Amino acid sequence: MKLIVAIVRPEKLNDVLEALFKAEVRGLTISRVLGHGGGTERVETYRGTTVKMGLYEKVKLEIGVSDAFVEPTIRAILESARTGEVGDGKIFVLPVEKVVRIRTGEEDEAAVTPVPSEPG
Ligand SMILES: Nc1ncnc2c1ncn2[C@@H]1O[C@H](COP(=O)(O)OP(=O)(O)OP(=O)(O)O)[C@@H](O)[C@H]1O
Ligand SMILES: [Mg+2]
Repeated sequence: MKLIVAIVRPEKLNDVLEALFKAEVRGLTISRVLGHGGGTERVETYRGTTVKMGLYEKVKLEIGVSDAFVEPTIRAILESARTGEVGDGKIFVLPVEKVVRIRTGEEDEAAVTPVPSEPG
């Protein structure tokens, strides 16, 4: 299992959610975050030139998936979140040691398999 952490543009969130839904990816968590991509911006001050680390509003998606869903999830995000301009974001894939569905106590693969027609 992996945790896919994707940072995307807020204005792309609806497209990303639609693409994930089509790829049959279900459980996810979304947060509004501030981020810095590493690009530096030079700012003139009266003492000379300094570098400013600008912060930009982004959306973070955290998606726990079984191994078979890693590539489809990445593909769905790439296809839906890309504009081709700098600042499109990044995808991190982290190993996951254990997942537990609290209601049932199911673990790992069983716990990341969505239960149909379950709200929340
Ligand atoms: N190395 C990183 N670690 C954590 N978060 C990052 C990292 N790089 C980018 N991010 C997050 O992704 C957001 C968008 O980054 P961005 O797309 O600018 O990355 P980039 O590497 O500069 O690519 P690009 O050249 O396309 O701009 C950042 O605001 C930040 O939230
Ligand atoms: Mg950047």
